[in-house]
Amino acid sequence: MKKKYNVSIIGATGMAGQQFMEALVNHPWFDIISLHGHSSVGKKYGESIRGLTSFEYPEEILEIKVRDTEDIDIKSTDIIFSAIPSSQAREVEGRLAKTTPVISTASAYRYEPDVPIYLPIVNGPHYEMLDVQKRNRGWEGFILPGPNCTTVGLVISLYPIFKEYGIESVHMVSMQAITGAGYPGVPSYDIIANVIPRIEGEEGKVIKETKKILSIIENGQFQLPDITIDCKCNRVPSIDGHMESVFIQTQKEFSSIEEIKSIWSRFKGETSGLGLPNAPEPPIKVFDDPYRPQPRIDLSEKKNGMYTFIGGVEKTNFKHGLKYTVLSHNTELGAGRGGVLSAEYLIAKKYL
Ligand SMILES: NC(=O)c1ccc[n+]([C@@H]2O[C@H](COP(=O)([O-])OP(=O)(O)OC[C@H]3O[C@@H](n4cnc5c(N)ncnc54)[C@H](OP(=O)(O)O)[C@@H]3O)[C@@H](O)[C@H]2O)c1
Repeated sequence: MKKKYNVSIIGATGMAGQQFMEALVNHPWFDIISLHGHSSVGKKYGESIRGLTSFEYPEEILEIKVRDTEDIDIKSTDIIFSAIPSSQAREVEGRLAKTTPVISTASAYRYEPDVPIYLPIVNGPHYEMLDVQKRNRGWEGFILPGPNCTTVGLVISLYPIFKEYGIESVHMVSMQAITGAGYPGVPSYDIIANVIPRIEGEEGKVIKETKKILSIIENGQFQLPDITIDCKCNRVPSIDGHMESVFIQTQKEFSSIEEIKSIWSRFKGETSGLGLPNAPEPPIKVFDDPYRPQPRIDLSEKKNGMYTFIGGVEKTNFKHGLKYTVLSHNTELGAGRGGVLSAEYLIAKKYL
């Protein structure tokens, strides 16, 4: 491995960007060389962080001046981590990827035919598509977006079952934390003691992304699996963590719930055993207690932000039917820290 990678972060002040920062400050493989934003350009990072944080940043990080994205020192930057709104990402990330690898939390490029939606725990080998992307676009760098935060826990829970039995159908109902909407996000008057039964555009993203992540690549194209997926997404008054009630039908019959739980518990994922600082080992924690997982209990400790928690596993009345609850952290595994794990995986595979 090269000694250390110089990284720049755009959108470092936001909800997802702060998780990039927390994962990158003191990271053994990366040095933060610059921070970039929009409304905070010219201010110190310490004066610009959005919302509340208990993370103890080193003084030298708080003192860094946020700069415009035009001011990224391309020659000195090995990787750019981007956590900016998708409406801005199309132009900004497209410009930067001409020269430099961009690992992003934004959706702007997710649905393009030469762009993997990257969740290396599940589809690590999809980085082979980056060569196709670079060739197609004549770029020296690439854009590698992670999934929508609601897709993440769902796909990690589906993947081991999909491999073992195949999946016929998936129905999901989400209960999504307010940090998923960025800062300031949903007005407090609307969300306190309330549930909002719609998140614009979310359901379509979950459906498309789940299939693309579970796809195989043949002749430079994603071959999507034939699974019927539908979902309903709700915003609820939790701070962090997207919880989901999932109902699936497998293709092949499974023998028992204990067997399903054991498949999840034994699942290692593509990122395991490579010595990656942010890889959850193992990725899935399964509860026997039917009252778990819960966001306040299971995500209150920092070290839990990269795990996928599953509980309440039962058979249903449908053929080969299974239901369960899944919980994962939307800004950690589902955004910034998940993006850092992608970079770690690419480095371990010698792609970076
Ligand atoms: N929140 C989540 O759970 C989550 C999960 C997965 C993916 N995402 C995705 O991550 C991205 C960021 O979301 P967020 O929730 O962190 O939003 P946010 O809290 O609103 O933060 C947005 C960030 O983008 C910066 N920014 C805005 N326009 C910019 C521009 N033109 N050039 C450079 N920087 C710009 C802002 O900088 P200033 O402060 O300087 O204005 C701020 O740092 C979005 O694409 C979102 O869909 C979010």
